[in-house]
Amino acid sequence: MGRSQELYKKAKKIIPTGTELLSKRPEMFLPELWPSYYTKAEGCKVWDLDQKQYYDFAQMGVGSCTLGYADQDVNDAVIEAIQNGSMCTLNSYEEVELAERLIHLHKPWAERARFARSGGEACAIAIRIARAKTRRNRVAFCGYHGWSDWYISANIGDETQLDEQLLPGLKPTGVPRMLQGTALPFLYNNLNSLQDLVEKYPDDIAAIIMEPRRGEELQPGFLEGVRGIADKIGAVLIFDEITAGFRVCLGGIHKLYKVHPDMAVFGKALGNGFPITAVIGTKDVMDAAEASFISSTFWTERIGFAAGVATLKKMQEIDSPQILVHYGDKIVKALTEAAQRNGLKLCVSHITPLAHIDWDYDNGLAVQTLYAQIMLDKGYLVSSAIYATTAYNDEIIDNFARDTEEAFEMIADAVKQNTVEKQLRGPVKQSGFARLVK
Ligand SMILES: Cc1ncc(COP(=O)(O)O)c(C=O)c1O
Repeated sequence: MGRSQELYKKAKKIIPTGTELLSKRPEMFLPELWPSYYTKAEGCKVWDLDQKQYYDFAQMGVGSCTLGYADQDVNDAVIEAIQNGSMCTLNSYEEVELAERLIHLHKPWAERARFARSGGEACAIAIRIARAKTRRNRVAFCGYHGWSDWYISANIGDETQLDEQLLPGLKPTGVPRMLQGTALPFLYNNLNSLQDLVEKYPDDIAAIIMEPRRGEELQPGFLEGVRGIADKIGAVLIFDEITAGFRVCLGGIHKLYKVHPDMAVFGKALGNGFPITAVIGTKDVMDAAEASFISSTFWTERIGFAAGVATLKKMQEIDSPQILVHYGDKIVKALTEAAQRNGLKLCVSHITPLAHIDWDYDNGLAVQTLYAQIMLDKGYLVSSAIYATTAYNDEIIDNFARDTEEAFEMIADAVKQNTVEKQLRGPVKQSGFARLVK
């Protein structure tokens, strides 16, 4: 056992759940073997506590580092912010520049911006503003939107409510039971499921919140239909762009579909790994924030704004979405062709810069664990979600394709011989995301 695994064993004793994020628990990838901790991350390379180097074909900082780890331009801006004082009695001027840039990217519909530090916080702010604007209580949602009470309350009284959403089975323990029935799930590409909620609560839906696109292909007319329903019932339409934003175009993915929301929420890629999240929206809706109380000390801290401005500038300069799509396409092609050649039942879904893979076998989780184990031995961090970064190059991806081909040959053999579990050196990974694309 290496130092990283040792440290995680200790962490589990003193940090309940082991780490602050579900998607960083080693059990989600390769229990007992995953390196868990890093000493250095640069470009698309990561070094663990034993100084072993890996290429990151997993989540690139849970989707936050599209420009690669420790990007020099973003780091320079952050270092300057730190040297000039990252906290002060007065405000950071970069906050206004970041607001202007985000609004400009989402012209003409967006006119206002607010900021926070985590995606869950930003979604909670958006919901608070929507409730303040409409003076209603309930929220219709599709997908995952963070750890806050407003969202997790969906599973109170019926823990199957999130089963067909991105993260099923989240426990509502600790969430006030009186919130039961205030967060109501509907299904992506299924207008009837939203319509049913509207008929049940015609005058009490404050917001409809959803990712405009993540897993399934968007069906024609769906987003327009949701927009129409929101307008008809006077609910605030919020697009959660935390994960999809800045991967296929500069700004929210909704720009591609030409349907605009009343509010959009950004996080992850916005600061290339530095904590900054944003809520943007129309003047009409966002100004309801004035009538509420939405305020926190570290939402004003300077690093996030400086990183956000530098990240947006660099994304624009190099046209990062176009590079991410190029690499994402190559990764998806490598995976699907290697699976076909080896007769493996692999389902690749989602937009290509954030490809998700599912194995269509009863022991699919064990197969994924074996893939991660083989690739770890070859020097890669691999997970069932592969977030592309501009720090890849064609050679790195070609090598990944060659090594995946070898891994798939071994997996095909193990599937045929029924020895997948036998070849694992640790337990089978835990499931994380629901399989949303059949
Ligand atoms: C669509 C979406 N919304 C909200 C969140 C929550 O963001 P955070 O983990 O920064 O709180 C996530 C995180 O994965 C997400 O994918």
